[in-house]
Amino acid sequence: MSQKVHTDRIAALEMAQIAADQDLAQFARAGGAAVFHNYCSQCHGAGATGAKGYPNLQDDDWLWGGTAEDIRQTIAHGIRFADDEDTRLSEMPAFGRDEILGRGEIAAVADHVLSLSGQAGANEAGRAIFADNCAACHGENGEGTQEPGAPNLADAIWFYDGDRDTVIATITNSRAGVMPAWAHRLSEAQIKQVALFVHDLGGGE
Ligand code: HEC
Ligand code: HEC
Repeated sequence: MSQKVHTDRIAALEMAQIAADQDLAQFARAGGAAVFHNYCSQCHGAGATGAKGYPNLQDDDWLWGGTAEDIRQTIAHGIRFADDEDTRLSEMPAFGRDEILGRGEIAAVADHVLSLSGQAGANEAGRAIFADNCAACHGENGEGTQEPGAPNLADAIWFYDGDRDTVIATITNSRAGVMPAWAHRLSEAQIKQVALFVHDLGGGE
């Protein structure tokens, strides 16, 4: 089959249908690897292992969902990207800058966060602050929830580093990482190909 026949089919099919067709999926993954190299590796790394502030796409820790369709949606519409109305939007409050919590409270809740991955001892005051201010997004035990893109805080995998100063800075100022939307720059088939490529790197759900 010609290249165009394949890309037309990819553009027309759902992610699950592409994945279920062995030949088509193989073609899509190869094309997706090329797209990744050209458009994604400058932020996520040539091996897709990420860097500080840029998530590792190889592991099974997903901020916004790890099914092939979730990944396609993230790539097509981006994250907190101003020019796409379907972009992923939720944002962590800047608890210090916006004076929601005082410095002592932020230090206590940071210690509670670090205790979740065994990096600090229990902090009862911090636990209570967490339940009131953080659990709605990060989960009662810090396990994370995908709807608001809130990372797991208990797995010792850090998006922005796990030392106490960095955790305090994140809680104080928030981060609100931005990922561009690709729907305006890549074809539908290219987006699906790179979504399948990312999904199949190892950690797709
Ligand atoms: C300019 C830098 C940049 C480029 C280029 C970029 N990304 Fe991202 N990407 C990010 C950032 C930052 C995040 C995390 C945003 C957040 O949630 O805070 C992200 C998140 C993601 C996620 C969500 C991961 C998760 O855990 O849910 C996926 C999937 C992704 N990128 C794929 C891609 C693909 C595929 C490309 C190329 C088409 C790409 N990215 C290009 C910066 C970038
Ligand atoms: C509205 C949802 C929301 C609430 C409430 C929230 N967060 Fe977050 N949090 C997020 C999101 C989304 C991120 C991802 C970072 C980004 O790109 O902005 C994050 C990231 C983090 C990180 C960085 C994790 C890493 O892997 O580097 C820490 C630490 C954190 N939050 C702690 C807290 C604490 C402590 C509270 C309560 C005081 C809290 N968060 C409340 C949504 C939330």
